[in-house]
Amino acid sequence: MPENVWLLPLKDVDDDARAVKLGEIAELEVTADQRSYVDEPLRMALVGLEEDSRHPYAIDSNGIAVGILTLQTGAATLAGWPDDESAWLLRGFAIDRRHQGRGLGRLAAAAAVAAAAQLTARHGGGQAGVVLSVNEGNPAGLAAYRNAGFVDKGQYLGGSSGPQRIMFRAFRG
Ligand SMILES: CC(C)(COP(=O)(O)OP(=O)(O)OC[C@H]1O[C@@H](n2cnc3c(N)ncnc32)[C@H](O)[C@@H]1OP(=O)(O)O)[C@@H](O)C(=O)NCCC(=O)NCCS
Repeated sequence: MPENVWLLPLKDVDDDARAVKLGEIAELEVTADQRSYVDEPLRMALVGLEEDSRHPYAIDSNGIAVGILTLQTGAATLAGWPDDESAWLLRGFAIDRRHQGRGLGRLAAAAAVAAAAQLTARHGGGQAGVVLSVNEGNPAGLAAYRNAGFVDKGQYLGGSSGPQRIMFRAFRG
């Protein structure tokens, strides 16, 4: 069966559904090598729910959360983008280690761009696409984003986790 993902907006579901999803998110794991690339999934979800600028999503496959991601507005410079407002920041992106390598990361990154375009259409804001930074030593991240249509926009040396690539995908084009 072909793989598929569905992004579940954690801020937009009712309390019961959110509680179930947070329970699944609490079970997500990345490999030991990958822990330096991403925060603990449940923590990211809870922080995302608290902050107005953040939109946390469960990445669902076959009805179960297999990952998490957050879209954030007004924060693109955290990924080395020249300004905060013209792009959504994609952050806190992870697929559970037991589900990696099946194309779910690629599908979820592409779905994040579609979700961001919907947020811009709904709320305004004028963003033209989605930006993220990914560690140069993270081949799975680099490949998943590239396969989802993100384009390398150069190196970012900010932050504390070593050299990063700035990757961007426009809503159109
Ligand atoms: C990055 C991540 C979300 C990708 O999820 P995924 O579901 O495995 O992604 P996909 O299956 O769509 O693609 C993985 C790609 O990485 C490649 N890959 C994986 N490990 C690799 C390695 N060690 N060396 C080279 N390529 C590698 C795979 O071959 C695949 O590319 P391909 O389809 O062109 O062959 C997942 O690895 C993850 O959660 N990592 C930990 C958190 C993280 O790094 N997040 C990103 C922070 S910016």
